[in-house]
Amino acid sequence: MADNTSLVGKRITLCATGSVAAYRAADICSKLVQAGVTVLPLMTESATAFLHPRTLATLAGQACYASLSEDDGGSTGIVHITRGQETDIILIAPASANTLANLAHGLCSDIVSATCLAATVPVVVSPAMNTQMWEHPATQANVALLMNRGIKFIPTRHGQLACRAVGDGKIAETEDILSFLNALFVAQQDQPLKGKRVLITAGGTREPIDAVRFIGNASSGKMGAALAQAALDFGASVDVICGPGVVPMPAGINRVDVTTTNDLLDASRPIAKTADLVIMAAAPADYRVANQVAGKHKKSDGPPVLELVENPDVLMQIVASRRPEQLIVGFAAEVGDPAPEAIRKCADKGCDFVVGNNIASEHGAFGSETTQLVLCNAQTVVSRFEPSTKTIAAEQLMQLLVSALLERQMLSV
Ligand code: CTP
Repeated sequence: MADNTSLVGKRITLCATGSVAAYRAADICSKLVQAGVTVLPLMTESATAFLHPRTLATLAGQACYASLSEDDGGSTGIVHITRGQETDIILIAPASANTLANLAHGLCSDIVSATCLAATVPVVVSPAMNTQMWEHPATQANVALLMNRGIKFIPTRHGQLACRAVGDGKIAETEDILSFLNALFVAQQDQPLKGKRVLITAGGTREPIDAVRFIGNASSGKMGAALAQAALDFGASVDVICGPGVVPMPAGINRVDVTTTNDLLDASRPIAKTADLVIMAAAPADYRVANQVAGKHKKSDGPPVLELVENPDVLMQIVASRRPEQLIVGFAAEVGDPAPEAIRKCADKGCDFVVGNNIASEHGAFGSETTQLVLCNAQTVVSRFEPSTKTIAAEQLMQLLVSALLERQMLSV
């Protein structure tokens, strides 16, 4: 069991909403209580079709409200006001598609969404639903909107769902939910990056072939988004340079959108000058097309012969004009054990660390929710991480980088 000591003494409003995974709220409630948390449960009425409020009330040792009509402003005050203002965070687990839609649009016809509308504390959601519902543009638009407003999402898992289909939308493991909350509290308490500037690059770049086609890769920017959230949680001011088509970025960052590797370099230079920590998680295209076609290449002209020229290595360029007290970190996407190549790239590119991941493994493929990182310097492996969600890996990686950064800055004072 992970060390979740930052949960001790916390007060969490746990909300269960209408999903078959509502039964998991009981396990989450029980594990939170065992971790030393005071859990104040709430449920939507539709969640009560899957789980009795008495279960959460008994496990939490606190009243569980499941309807606004029970919220009579009695001895504990108006529940949908106090729960979102007098606890440390609100956790919605499971969060149904309907609840995400309510939250996105400010609807408050049930006690969970009313509590969120009145909340002043952070809201964390752990969605659970059928794959089609999760991937529907309406749900994804709601997720993007809520992330932009600062609501934190615990990634869903891929697996067999209640409807027996296999896909995304499965609620996170209880252990991952607890680790997520613990990391959030650690970051909130310490804020070790307060006053520091962090630059992150995310996603792939695209090199045009003609007006409609490009050379690109499948990088989703999920790792960059998770790193941005971790840096924000640690109190940093965060700039993220995003390639096209990346996943939504967390609220509170300064976002710059770019298309090509040269654009990425141009956008990185001025920000890197003043950044304390630079993390190049992007997958920039190594080559661009020298003989780009103006307009659209026509099939009748036969297969195009592309003349490729090498792009600048953004990381090496940033390292070339570094300040000594900066920490500069690259990524290496490899097939097989990434450590040897991560060590070599770190030495060749002159950065402080390279984080390797195996894109051929089930944890680490472009676009996947999970990853298994290995942090290397120019000589050796510094740390091998267990497979985990990108969110948790980002928090763990950020903790190591923060220590290295603070040590470096102390030495260079
Ligand atoms: N990188 C960069 N500019 C490039 C290519 C890569 O800044 N033109 C950075 C990436 O952001 C990453 C690191 O270099 O931090 C390693 O990227 P990767 O694609 O793994 O390495 P390459 O140097 O391109 O080597 P190869 O493709 O041969 O593995």
